[in-house]
Amino acid sequence: MAKEKTAFFCTNCGNESAKWLGKCPACGEWNTLVEERVATGKKSASSSSSRKHKALGSGVATPISEVGADTTQRRDLCNEEVNRVLGGGLVKGSLVLLGGEPGIGKSTLSLQIALHAKDTKTLYISGEESNQQIKMRADRIGGNFENCLLLSETCVENIIESIDKIKPDIVIIDSIQTLYTDIVDSTTGGVAQIRECASQLMRYAKEQEVPIFIIGHITKDGNIAGPKILEHIVDVVLQFEGDSNNVYRILRSIKNRFGATSEIGVFEMLGNGLREVANPSDILLTHYDEPLSGIAVGATIDGIRPYLIETQALVSNTAFGMPQRSTTGFDTKRLNMLLAVVEKRIGIKMIAKDVFLNIAGGFKVSDPGLDLAVMTAMLSSAFDIEIPKSMTFAGEIGLSGEIRPASRTEQRVSEASRLGFKTIVISKYASSSTLTRYNIKIINISKVEEIVKIIKNNA
Ligand code: TYD
Ligand code: MG
Repeated sequence: MAKEKTAFFCTNCGNESAKWLGKCPACGEWNTLVEERVATGKKSASSSSSRKHKALGSGVATPISEVGADTTQRRDLCNEEVNRVLGGGLVKGSLVLLGGEPGIGKSTLSLQIALHAKDTKTLYISGEESNQQIKMRADRIGGNFENCLLLSETCVENIIESIDKIKPDIVIIDSIQTLYTDIVDSTTGGVAQIRECASQLMRYAKEQEVPIFIIGHITKDGNIAGPKILEHIVDVVLQFEGDSNNVYRILRSIKNRFGATSEIGVFEMLGNGLREVANPSDILLTHYDEPLSGIAVGATIDGIRPYLIETQALVSNTAFGMPQRSTTGFDTKRLNMLLAVVEKRIGIKMIAKDVFLNIAGGFKVSDPGLDLAVMTAMLSSAFDIEIPKSMTFAGEIGLSGEIRPASRTEQRVSEASRLGFKTIVISKYASSSTLTRYNIKIINISKVEEIVKIIKNNA
């Protein structure tokens, strides 16, 4: 009879402890430990030699100079945005975790990869949906149906056996939370199960050099054993995010052993799958017939990808004693700071004004380089003077009302000029030697008071 044993696992970092503790000793998070049954008579594959494993390499230490570069050969997934986020394609033998909230489009994206990758045999394993449901989705997306095989399976040992038999070029598993292994006797989706299943898949991917995508859910409050603990195991962590009320989605790399983590991919969710958005500025700028007050275009940057985005503000008189502050896509605390600067430096009584701020497309922007555009949009609305459509802004605002250079100003200027903007307003302190080669007029300012001059000049 197998001995029953329980242990406590941290849902944040996966640390195991024999007793319940209020604070995880490994990661320092509070109240994250959950109890799970762990051991049966069988030994864990990760700690035993119950199965004889092939060594990852030849088993002999090699000088780094003699290691061939072919291990980093990348497979083209025929999806520019995904390739870009992966750092130029999928590395063979890599384990990629695709995380995101339910309903954001993880299954759609991975099925799309499976159907669109050319000359690539893919195995799509689902523990969540039936083959018919997946077929219905595939009909919407369209693509190459011959090379995509479907399998409904949730036992990791069976999955590995099937991969062995089928020998696909790419494996997709939807989702890690539905997998289980006989080795660990705890509930499916529990920390111990997830960790063990992922380690087995990792070992298999490395031994057989087959790339595996695993999908993982995260909840809004991050309560269940989510992909957090997986992040340490896998090679690449991609996060799919967006507002489910909006059609735009961002694929972000959080961890990448084979590339930069500052890349993002942008998609639009349509009726027939996800469209790659090569030029995000196109969808984030509205083309009005006439300029409207309260709108300013900011040259922002996410990771290393520059794009131009519309910020829209409404500043109106407060009807009740309590002024309202409402933002979408921008940090409310940062807005309050900007309002305090306006009050102090420009002398508008913000206590008597309601302020509403909106960033286009449901995008969330945390780049402080957008401050200048946000401030300009608010002042434009307060004075009811429109900003010319051909003008854009990039700069950070300090507490004393000084305009600081935005990070990577040159890339922002280059993107603005590429998109045909005529003028960009930036900080006087941005290094300017190389900026003159772009076909765009540069206005340098050093204080917020100068924004008012720029706006009033247009009146
Ligand atoms: P799904 O991939 O099932 O999300 P996840 O796997 O992350 O839970 O997709 C969820 C949403 O996407 C669903 O509400 C329907 C929508 N959708 C489209 O808008 N267009 C499409 O072509 C497809 C396949 C789905
Ligand atoms: Mg899904």
